[in-house]
Amino acid sequence: MVPIPKIAAGSEFGPLRVRRGERVFVLTGAGVSAESGVPTFRDAGGLWEQHRVEDVATPEGFARDPEMVWRFYSQRRLKAREVRPNPAHLALARLGDRLGDDLFLCTQNVDALHERAGSKDVHHMHGRLLSTRCSSCGRAPFDDESAYETAPRCDCGALLRPDVVWFGEMPYGLPRIFDALEETDLFVTVGSSGAVYPAAGFVSHLRHIGRARCIYVGLERPDNAHSFDECRLGKAGELVPSLFDVT
Ligand code: APR
Repeated sequence: MVPIPKIAAGSEFGPLRVRRGERVFVLTGAGVSAESGVPTFRDAGGLWEQHRVEDVATPEGFARDPEMVWRFYSQRRLKAREVRPNPAHLALARLGDRLGDDLFLCTQNVDALHERAGSKDVHHMHGRLLSTRCSSCGRAPFDDESAYETAPRCDCGALLRPDVVWFGEMPYGLPRIFDALEETDLFVTVGSSGAVYPAAGFVSHLRHIGRARCIYVGLERPDNAHSFDECRLGKAGELVPSLFDVT
């Protein structure tokens, strides 16, 4: 029988006990950065309400109009300079300090707020906003904060593109993610609508393995709520700082 998740205000739950040696997997989505002023995708006023996904977040959109795609990402790069980590990012960085390799921090976000809060070894499964790569040759992606007026080119002559994973592309490092999931004792998703796969399916994969406690923290019930043990509703910046009790 599939258990029914407990869905309630975050204040109704106690901290999550983490014992030494337990493996914790935290998956963050746009909601963790919302209180820093980074727009989410699917909320009212979110990025996908203002832009067509097909135009700015697909390889086909880039092939059709690279200038427009670069303008979109350049705007986001400029805005990224103005934002600061919030208490949720800072709390996850402190958790990393305490757990070391027992924490796997995986984010769907392309912003650098986890790193700027002090988190090390953040797995950016959808790439990084402040990184650029060649659309053609095997040159390694490189750090790049530039905002471009026109689409830049690689030394090989092909167009450079933002180093982000678009719809229809494979997220980065899936084997590493699934290895970490296999060992997970506590899985926590923070601020993701559960609408985009494969990330939205990690929790049902864990259900199948049958070992991890699975907790959601975010403003609203996510689309994949049924797969969690608990959905703790509220703002990440208010709930995450007191979420973990490491013993
Ligand atoms: N605290 C916690 N959760 C919040 C907050 C907040 N302050 N503000 C918003 N949320 C929640 C929303 O209720 C929503 O469920 O964060 C979630 C954000 O959902 P999406 O906008 O769909 O973002 P995400 O799930 O990260 O999107 C996944 O989709 O478009 C692609 O590649 C993009 O990585 C992105 C992926």
